[in-house]
Amino acid sequence: MIQTKWKSPSNIALVKYWGKHGRQLPRNASISFTLHHCHTITEISIEEKKVDGQISIDFFFENKKQDQFKSKILSFLNSILSEMPFLVQFHWHIHSSNSFPHSAGIASSASSMSALMACICDLEKQLGFQKEGTDFLKRVSYFSRLASGSACRSVYPLAASWGQSNYLPLSSDEYASPFDADLHIDFHDFHDDVLIVSRNEKSVSSTVGHNLMHNNPFADIRYEQADLNMKLMLQALKSGDIEEFGRITEAEALMLHALMMTSSPSFVLMEPSSLEIIKKVQNFRKETSIPLYFTLDAGPNVHLLYPHSVEEKVNQFISAELSQHCDQNQVIRDFVGKGLEKL
Ligand code: DP6
Repeated sequence: MIQTKWKSPSNIALVKYWGKHGRQLPRNASISFTLHHCHTITEISIEEKKVDGQISIDFFFENKKQDQFKSKILSFLNSILSEMPFLVQFHWHIHSSNSFPHSAGIASSASSMSALMACICDLEKQLGFQKEGTDFLKRVSYFSRLASGSACRSVYPLAASWGQSNYLPLSSDEYASPFDADLHIDFHDFHDDVLIVSRNEKSVSSTVGHNLMHNNPFADIRYEQADLNMKLMLQALKSGDIEEFGRITEAEALMLHALMMTSSPSFVLMEPSSLEIIKKVQNFRKETSIPLYFTLDAGPNVHLLYPHSVEEKVNQFISAELSQHCDQNQVIRDFVGKGLEKL
């Protein structure tokens, strides 16, 4: 039996992807830090099956059969069948697990979809179906994007951008590009602690959320702002300007939530505790001059971003002031990581 196993991390967007068109193409370029501890491990083994033109899979999540995920994966694999016709030649046994609790309210599509596509692209290569000279990570990124936009950024170490941008000559809407070579050394060991405000499932799926941008009255202004923020963020990440990095990161998070609040129907995804945390972080920074910044994805959990040099002081602050706002005091400590890894 042929098999493979890959680990892929989650990522946290600094400039956010929000709004898409066509076949999973982003309305604006985005950039993220690749994480380390929050990851998915996926293992696939395959066996030949009779030719009947159908894709056939088993899907186990944390050793339990998961039919809801199975049907999502199956419909995604069917959508890429013309690019990966060999999928119908085998039966696919897929086993997946996350390092973070499934109910932690952390989006897992980025790590799970990139781990899945790393396995499939690797098997494609092992079976001799991949063109010689294929850029493996680019191919994984391309297919991960088709599964879930933000997943395409998870494959690269440290930081990755996605989406055509005038400020990034090699950028594309179809796959992510690495940004590690240009990333200032001060960001290489940056921390991202996730404050779990709520473990409830998201009340708006990302696809529904992205689609709300079609009629959002601020959509055009948003895409202009995202372009400007990409320009400024890239400069800050290159030069090591942590203050400017933090200013843009927080503005992006608040703008994302403002867009959700101004959509029709409107979604308020922050909880009172999210706001308490945000206010405390802003005050802490003012009082101590310690560079601690927040961001949020499309949910209530707050990510805290800060340089390694202030770890101890931030830890004390989290324990004394912030963890009380979290569900069961839960905080997931993470930092910038290496990207996709074969196990
Ligand atoms: C707020 O990648 O989950 O996290 O392409 O529909 O799967 P789909 O959306 P998804 O959207 C993530 C949005 C975000 C911002 C970001 O990660 O850039």
